[in-house]
Amino acid sequence: MHPPADHPSIPAADLKVVPVERSDTIPSSWYVDPRFHALERDAVFGANWQLVGRLDQVERPGQFLVGTVADEPIIVVRGKDGALRAFFNVCRHRGGPLAFCDGQASALRCQYHGWTYLLDGSLRGVPQMDRSELFDKKDFGLTPVAVDTWEGLVFVHLGPKPAPVARTFAGILERIGPRALAGMQFARRVNYEVACNWKVYVDNYLEGYHVPFVHPELATLLDYAGYTTETFDRYSLQSSPMTGEGSPYDTAGGTATAYYYFVFPNVMLNILPGRLQTNVVQPLGPDRCRVVFDYFYQRAGSAALEAQVEADVAYSDKVQEEDREICEHVQRGLSSRAYDRGRFSPEMEAGVHHFQKLLKQAYAARMKPAPRRRRPTK
Ligand code: FES
Repeated sequence: MHPPADHPSIPAADLKVVPVERSDTIPSSWYVDPRFHALERDAVFGANWQLVGRLDQVERPGQFLVGTVADEPIIVVRGKDGALRAFFNVCRHRGGPLAFCDGQASALRCQYHGWTYLLDGSLRGVPQMDRSELFDKKDFGLTPVAVDTWEGLVFVHLGPKPAPVARTFAGILERIGPRALAGMQFARRVNYEVACNWKVYVDNYLEGYHVPFVHPELATLLDYAGYTTETFDRYSLQSSPMTGEGSPYDTAGGTATAYYYFVFPNVMLNILPGRLQTNVVQPLGPDRCRVVFDYFYQRAGSAALEAQVEADVAYSDKVQEEDREICEHVQRGLSSRAYDRGRFSPEMEAGVHHFQKLLKQAYAARMKPAPRRRRPTK
């Protein structure tokens, strides 16, 4: 089977998964060639659950949130019957948007010519269409998208009949125990744009190898002697004892554990005492990505907590700036004729290897020849 015209053709040897001790890193072209951006839109972002928002944004009937997944505009809406539904945010008339931003309404009205849809996606109002022939509103409902929730987070999936999202996250709650994520309250969102391929940012997140060199201050927060990386089916976990001394995460003489989960392909859960940060890495092009940081706390809303949020964000800003700078340099290095691929430190880069394994599998699944159709018998 030939790949679609905008997809790259990949040698089978490059898709082979090899143990970390013997494996090369993925080729540099995967980070710079626009055809990989197109392939990933279909094989990665269009074929996995994508975090688009929070349940508290769509709690009440008529509340909706909008997002973009695999370059597709999406709207998630709470129906009058209490059901949560998701649709392409694309009007069936001529492709207009139903909403530009999050909001609440008793029906969804297209922003272009005013066609109106009920919250269940069925088309109701079509101004000035009386003279249209062979037009049945029943045939022009919004196109649905799979939606599911996990611990107060809302996910959509563009593929047909995906397994429940909880299966992707299986085992995380059992591991972190009493830190119930669903009970955390949202406090702040901060977006960062970075001039690198989204995978450069993910690779960087997945190893502590660079921390002493790029983040000398952060290095004092964690106890690297106890730093470990574990890999699971669809995610990996980096964890470390922390004292947080001299940082907003100061544990006042005690020790705690910092958990850094990466869930394929682009969600990070940073779980620290009393806090959760979700990071979502969104590709904006072959050499540009946005990282969306959402801050959650066990107790939200007090003045003391507001000061805490400010301190956490300022601390993260500094770490982000350090990561942005190195990731942008790495993107330039990957574009250089001097570089094609490298090797892993098995001790420090097992998480990167695991991510690249899942990526290869996602590419390979997309490239598998479709099963042959049987000829209908007469
Ligand atoms: Fe929606 Fe025309 S595109 S009403």
